[in-house]
Amino acid sequence: MAAVGSGVNGAQDVSGSRVQMAHRGGRPAKKVLVLGATSGIAEATCRIWAGQGASLFLAGRNAARLEVVAADLRVRGAAEVYTAVVDLDDTAKHPELLAHAVNTLTGLDVAYLAHGVLGDQAAAEQDFAVAEQILHTNLISAVSLLTWLGNFCAQRRSGVLAVISSVAGDRGRKSNYLYGASKAGLSAFLGGLRNRVDREGVTVLNIKPGPVKTAMTINMPGSHKFADVGKVAAAIVKAVDAKRDTLYVPFQWAPIMFVVRHIPERVFKKLNL
Ligand SMILES: NC(=O)c1ccc[n+]([C@@H]2O[C@H](COP(=O)([O-])OP(=O)(O)OC[C@H]3O[C@@H](n4cnc5c(N)ncnc54)[C@H](OP(=O)(O)O)[C@@H]3O)[C@@H](O)[C@H]2O)c1
Repeated sequence: MAAVGSGVNGAQDVSGSRVQMAHRGGRPAKKVLVLGATSGIAEATCRIWAGQGASLFLAGRNAARLEVVAADLRVRGAAEVYTAVVDLDDTAKHPELLAHAVNTLTGLDVAYLAHGVLGDQAAAEQDFAVAEQILHTNLISAVSLLTWLGNFCAQRRSGVLAVISSVAGDRGRKSNYLYGASKAGLSAFLGGLRNRVDREGVTVLNIKPGPVKTAMTINMPGSHKFADVGKVAAAIVKAVDAKRDTLYVPFQWAPIMFVVRHIPERVFKKLNL
């Protein structure tokens, strides 16, 4: 793994005017830290923020892919795009990464956590090491990042922590309960963190997508019917601006999961979900 910060690029002011960029469309440009920036959902979201003239700090583990994403966002109008190559499983690196990101951005309006793995459910049922890896990437690394970020934002009394969990965390199912458990843990953590830092002026947004067309789902049966990543990204940007607590996206997943959560266990355990 490259050392944190070794992939950081200098500022790129593609507009030629920082003052204009800071107030494009009448709203102040955001300073956004994106963790797992090569994710399909994150990339689509960043494209919208770039078009609004945001400053973006992108962290991801695939250096080549990260540079492609960064170059695209610069062309789309981001005021500044910085990158850091880092494996987010390495929690010992988090404090250094996060301090470097907020120093580079000279502040923080939004921290967006998008990294995650689906994992191999069948393998995880047989081998705890596989299960542990899913829980580590989706839950433990997020808890580590959010512990630092929650304290940073609470101290400054501002900021939005936007985190991608999943509808899969709303109820355990036999087909993906390791992934579901990691996202259920994440959602519970986000609820508690919100309850703690809301009074400090910090927003904790729990994003719960249903199936979305990205690299993560490309090989799933029926994936062509999954939600469009651009539409999901637009809903996420709106929810961040509105400082919402929870976003089910697409919206119909809110009533669907309400029903799923209320199916009696004696019925649920007979279903093949
Ligand atoms: N797509 C869906 O249907 C769906 C539904 C609900 C929730 N979600 C959640 O949405 C988030 C984004 O997923 P996506 O759909 O955009 O899928 P994706 O394109 O596969 O993105 C997942 C990203 O996480 C990154 N990642 C995984 N482990 C990492 C690590 N240790 N360090 C750094 N980066 C790491 C991957 O990087 P590499 O490319 O280097 O592997 C990849 O860029 C995930 O949290 C996922 O669980 C997705």
